This record gives sequence, structure tokens and C-alpha cells, in this order.
Amino acid sequence: SIGSGRVGLRNIGNTCFLNAVVQCLSHTRGLRDYCLLKSYRPEKFSKEDAKLMEAFSQVLSGLWDVNEGDTVVNPRQFYSIFKEAVPHFSGYSQQDAQEFLRFLLDKLHTEINRRPYVRRTGKEPELSEEAVAMWKKHLERDDSRIVDLFSGQLRSSLHCSVCSHYSNTFDVFCDLSLPIPKRSSGGEVTLRECLDLFSQEEKLDKENSPMCERCNRRTECTKRLSIQRFPQVIVIHLNRFTTSRWSISKSTVYVSFPLTNLDLGPYGPVDFLYDLYAICNHAGTVNMGHYTACCSDENGWCFYNDSSVTPVSENQLQTNQAYVLFYRRSNSTATVRK
Ligand SMILES: *[C@@H]1O[C@H](CO)[C@@H](O)[C@H](O)[C@H]1NC(C)=O
Ligand SMILES: [Zn+2]
Repeated sequence: SIGSGRVGLRNIGNTCFLNAVVQCLSHTRGLRDYCLLKSYRPEKFSKEDAKLMEAFSQVLSGLWDVNEGDTVVNPRQFYSIFKEAVPHFSGYSQQDAQEFLRFLLDKLHTEINRRPYVRRTGKEPELSEEAVAMWKKHLERDDSRIVDLFSGQLRSSLHCSVCSHYSNTFDVFCDLSLPIPKRSSGGEVTLRECLDLFSQEEKLDKENSPMCERCNRRTECTKRLSIQRFPQVIVIHLNRFTTSRWSISKSTVYVSFPLTNLDLGPYGPVDFLYDLYAICNHAGTVNMGHYTACCSDENGWCFYNDSSVTPVSENQLQTNQAYVLFYRRSNSTATVRK
């Protein structure tokens, strides 16, 4: 049996980004149970030692311990192994939670990949390959609990304006990074509007477009993104940070999002509904920021601020600090519209 999971993480020097992300992942049941049961040990094929996975699992064990003698877990060992595994990450002073999440999932995946190491060929299959074939190819070399839970497939459709040829490319994603629409009035926007902007048709001029297969040259074309394959868990990154030539700025626009029944049907071939279970928040400015998390368990929502854990009500969850949203596929299905 396991504890409540309502245990904080010590801040060991600007590590709130790590603490917030770990709390969100710790509330991803399919990953938590896999770690607590150490299920990766028998099924891993990778020759690499699962050092980071072991350290990560140890943190989760501390968080979900029934005794909860300690109400705070120290992530020091896990963080130092992470920095060893991803050396270039330790260079930054202000760490980005979403970047950390990407590196962490990627590294965990490599350690617990069920596939033997296969040298990747530089050239991907031809663009016209079907999505299913591409996905099969992906699973032939990348297959792990991380992929089971977080990986989806994005389709990018190009339409040549000269010859009207359509072509698709397919990419694997572990999170959707959404732009936030600009509002002159500074009013609030909805997650739906961010998704609409993300999947909106975009005009590419000759210089920025890929070769048209039929014209055999670069032509003006339009591009549209959609979800081809839905993951179990969809991680949505609200891209609040804009890098310009000289500086990084942060958008503090309030983006409202549904707690249950997020319908991604309009952005893909099937109607799946998703329920929110964790939020990573960013407060403050680019240089003076602080990350926290809100996570749900069987008994409700809690606010995780490094070592402190306090219950929160659902109406406190939506703020203009929401930065990364974690949704899991719900058991209910939307009414079929297609
Ligand atoms: C988080 O905790 C710090 C102290 O560790 C405190 O200064 C800060 O106000 C807390 N943030 C929130 C939003 O409660
Ligand atoms: Zn063409």
C-alpha cells in the first residue's frame, strides 16, 4: 500500500523547476506505479545502466512512502545524476521547467528502452510514407513506458499553391508547445484559442517552404499541423516565453483551461476527452521566477511549493501562472461527430 503522496521536495538551490516537474510526474499514475514497482528492471533492454531511473524511482518512493516519517524528500542525488547525464543543462542559471521535463523524459526513455540500440540513419523515410508505417518504425527503435504514456504523433500537411499537391510528414511529440494569441486589449484567452492558433493554416513563402515533391522546387505553400495519434497523457506547454534578439520576455496572459473533458477531437482524427491532473506554474519574471505545482490525487488537489504542501480547491487552480498542463485520457468518450 502507498501513502498519500502529499510530501514536499527540498529546494537545494534554485531547484524549484525540478521540484515542480517531479511532483507533476509523481502524479502520473502509470509512471509512478512503474517506478514504485521497479517494473523497468525486468523489461529493460538498453545496455545502459538505469542510473537516472533508479534515482528518480527513489525520489518517488520517498514521496509515496506509507510511513511518511519525513515530510520532505531531498532530490540531491537524483539531481546530481541528472546533471551528469545531461551535462549541458547545468550551465544555465535560470532553468526552464519544460526544457527540464523534455530532457528528463528523453533520458529516462533511453535508459529503459525495450529496444536494442539501433543506429539511426540520417535519412528518414520518404515524406509520402503513411503515418502508421512511421509509427511502427518509431516503435521499432523507441519503445518504453515513457513512449506508452507520453508519445503522440503530429501530422504536418503541406499544400503547394502552384500545383495543389498535398503531402504529409509525421513527427513524434512528447508535449505540445502552444503559442498564446496576442491580445491588444490584454484580455484573457482560452486553451481552445491556443490550440486553434497552433493548428491554424500557415502560409510559407518560397524561402521557408520545403521542396514540393511534384514541382521539384520550393514553392509558396500552406502548412497545417494536426494530431495524428493521441497519447495517454498529453502535456501542454503554454509558451509564455518569447526569445527575441536581445532578450526573453514573458507573457502573463490569463489562459483559461478545462479541468475535465478537454476535447481534442477538432485537432485530430478521433474524439478523445482528457482530464487535468497536474499543473506546473511559473510565477514572477524571466529572471526572478518561481515554479510550483498543483496536483490531484484521490482526495483532491494540493499545492506543491518546494517543501510545503497545502490543499487547494478547484477554483484556485486557474491562474495566469499556468505554464505546463498535464492531461490524461478520460474513460468517457465524446459523442462521435465524424
Ligand atoms: C512558496 O514558498 C515560499 C517560501 O518557501 C514563499 O515565500 C512563497 O510565498 C510561496 N508561494 C506561494 C505562492 O505560496
Ligand atoms: Zn507543387
